[in-house]
Amino acid sequence: MIHKDLPLTDIHRHLDGNIRAQTILELGRQHNIALPASTLDALRPHVQVTSLEPDLVSFLSKLDWGVKVLADLDACRRVAYENIEDAARNGLHYVELRFSPGYMAMTHNLPVAGVVEAVIAGVKQGCRDFPVQANLIGIMSRTFGETACEKELNALLAHRDSITALDLAGDELGFPGSLFLNHFNRARDAGWRITVHAGEAAGPESIWQAIRELGAERIGHGVKAVEDRALMDFLAEQRIGIESCLTSNIQTSTVPSLERHPLKVFLEHGVLASLNTDDPAVQGIDIIHEYEVAAPAAGLSEEQIRQAQINGLEIAFLSAQEKQALI
Ligand code: HPA
Ligand code: ZN
Repeated sequence: MIHKDLPLTDIHRHLDGNIRAQTILELGRQHNIALPASTLDALRPHVQVTSLEPDLVSFLSKLDWGVKVLADLDACRRVAYENIEDAARNGLHYVELRFSPGYMAMTHNLPVAGVVEAVIAGVKQGCRDFPVQANLIGIMSRTFGETACEKELNALLAHRDSITALDLAGDELGFPGSLFLNHFNRARDAGWRITVHAGEAAGPESIWQAIRELGAERIGHGVKAVEDRALMDFLAEQRIGIESCLTSNIQTSTVPSLERHPLKVFLEHGVLASLNTDDPAVQGIDIIHEYEVAAPAAGLSEEQIRQAQINGLEIAFLSAQEKQALI
């Protein structure tokens, strides 16, 4: 259950994994982009996960239709704006939206810095129109290699004051964090916070690497930490936050069932783990589902769900002033 006396946050949500199916249809029509179906019902199975995907990389291919309809910068601004509208509709008080400008720019060869600008503009307008606070996290999509990531980083750094943190997402097994040391050095020099997708497709060593070499203060997913007792202790002692996304971990076949998800163990161990969505439109879920259905199915007690909600605020990339505005 969502605790109404506490702020509700989602600090792991991909803006480019959360494009409404209806918007995909409308943008497809507007820009004459051939889609695999022309009605909402027929389109859904192409843009939404309908059964388990065998691995992370096939799950990620489900995000492709959403970015294929981003034919111009106005489309990018629109999906950013709608993300804020949807966050407010979900009852979120605070959302951290992350996006990969290179991935969004890719199909229609849009200027990557222009995409960053459009996303910032859409989010700012959304925050004026809807009662929700937001921060933006820039993503480097590791799947496209070091050079493409450098381009994303450069475009994001051109707007450094509107971006709160840097993340690394995509194919964790094919592109280890060790390829991106320079990128993260630059991000930390810019004063950004750091979170890294790690321990999702790869093992605990990927989490250690993200913390020790990339400077991660939070870890996206981090499910494999449970295999390494020393790492569990370290996460708890150093207050390194875990951004758990329960349904996502099932759909990517990272965890075989909710009952076997390690979130409960993280909380029992004193790790600051939180509840989040990941790619809600692609997954066909929202934050309410994660609190009301997924978390109880993962064996969390009401007290543990409350703790996860508290942790979401505790580990959020908020300034003291921004946090004060939420309490
Ligand atoms: N892992 C890595 N990259 C991603 C994910 C994820 O779960 N979702 C969207 N991009
Ligand atoms: Zn993610």
